[in-house]
Amino acid sequence: MIQGTCRLWNISISALVFLTVYNIMLTVRLMYAPGCARKQSTIQKPQIVYQKCDNADEKQSEATTPINLDLGLGRWDNRHRYKLFDSVVVGQKYVLLNELYKTCLATQSSIEKMASLIEVSSHWNGPISLATFAASEEELNNLLLYILYLRRCDKRIRDNVSFHLAVTKERLKRYEVDSAKLEQLDCDNPVGTLQQLVRGLQKGANKWRAKLPYPQNHLRNLARKNCQSKYIFLTDVDIIPSKGMAESLDLFLGKTECKGRCAYVIPTYELDERVLFPPNKTELIRLANKGLARPFHHKVFIYNQFATNFSRWQSIANDGSDVHISHPVTNFEFLYEPFYIAPDTVPQHDERFVGYGYTRNSQVYEMFVAGYEFQVLSPIFTCHWGLQVKRTRPPWREHQNNLNRKQFDGFKKEIFARYNKDPLNMISRKT
Ligand SMILES: *[C@@H]1O[C@H](CO)[C@@H](O)[C@H](O)[C@H]1NC(C)=O
Ligand SMILES: *[C@@H]1O[C@H](CO)[C@@H](O)[C@H](O)[C@H]1NC(C)=O
Ligand SMILES: *[C@@H]1O[C@H](CO)[C@@H](O)[C@H](O)[C@H]1NC(C)=O
Repeated sequence: MIQGTCRLWNISISALVFLTVYNIMLTVRLMYAPGCARKQSTIQKPQIVYQKCDNADEKQSEATTPINLDLGLGRWDNRHRYKLFDSVVVGQKYVLLNELYKTCLATQSSIEKMASLIEVSSHWNGPISLATFAASEEELNNLLLYILYLRRCDKRIRDNVSFHLAVTKERLKRYEVDSAKLEQLDCDNPVGTLQQLVRGLQKGANKWRAKLPYPQNHLRNLARKNCQSKYIFLTDVDIIPSKGMAESLDLFLGKTECKGRCAYVIPTYELDERVLFPPNKTELIRLANKGLARPFHHKVFIYNQFATNFSRWQSIANDGSDVHISHPVTNFEFLYEPFYIAPDTVPQHDERFVGYGYTRNSQVYEMFVAGYEFQVLSPIFTCHWGLQVKRTRPPWREHQNNLNRKQFDGFKKEIFARYNKDPLNMISRKT
């Protein structure tokens, strides 16, 4: 009997001692473990981790590493294929800018094209909301590294741009930002730096990446919905606005209230790589007359921008510096996909279209059926670098396009059912 009590007593004491020691160990670990290491490893929340470090260098890093991303959270898309994260990195003046400006630039970019943001943000002084995508942990690490690099090297990006993220449902559990590497990246060579980071991703085991459907429309919605101002200008990141566009649009939108269903089209040109970005419409038309600029996708797929009516827009080369309506779009056709400014009450981008094909033009098509009127603005414009020539599509791209074409058959019937209109006779037409 006495012996039994004694054994129980011993067990209790042992348990107490064990728990106490364990508790102390945990406390010590919590106090010292994460973040203070030179090279951060697998940090979930760097901004919290750094708070405990007294080292001045680390505090410096804290200022440049404001990543708000917990991969255990995020919101799922409707099909549970992608996870979306809002405001992963927020420009220091982003909130303020959305109050100051009437239009927010909503754009999307894969890691490969991210360097275009430098030129975009040097032309657009208003708020920029950018959505991007990572398909693997390695890609995510490089993406975050490059975003932090852009912020470190470019005050405009640090101030004015907010970044949002989509990831695949494949297990992305952790990320790490190599802060030692970040400090070493050369601010004078953003394109080379990016190429270096991307090259690693395209090698060997990562080759599959090129074929993974890139969720363009998810990213567009993500960028749009994180804009806080009334109007949005939705672009792809390699579409460069003419200089000072945000300010001149503010004046225009202050005078011309968009009543009802309207959208303002900004003409898009492609530019020969050898020229300088045209500072005004007169110069753009001069380049066009010399064959150094032409309507976007003119040779690749003319319907893409044709209804904008560039000959009409170009007919007046110097129509002052105030933004005004040049003319309405009168010959809307299926597959027209202009870049436009509109209040963000326009239809969403349908997320059943992933990868290539029917992503932007299906949304513009719905706007048209819903009764939106498109007005072309002047003298502002956007440009894409490089004269595009027709190339054969890689098979994976053709495949994605075919899948989306099948989706479009269902989509057009839904649009017909929703609006009870079929102005382009799409129901009887084969697409
Ligand atoms: C965006 O950031 C840059 C640099 O801070 C600034 O010059 C530009 O005007 C910004 N937009 C505004 C209105 O702050
Ligand atoms: C447009 O830009 C060109 C080239 O810089 C310049 O020579 C011209 O004066 C500008 N025109 C107007 C109307 O501002
Ligand atoms: C472009 O405008 C001209 C002149 O108003 C008109 O005759 C022509 O039909 C228009 N073309 C398109 C594609 O809208």
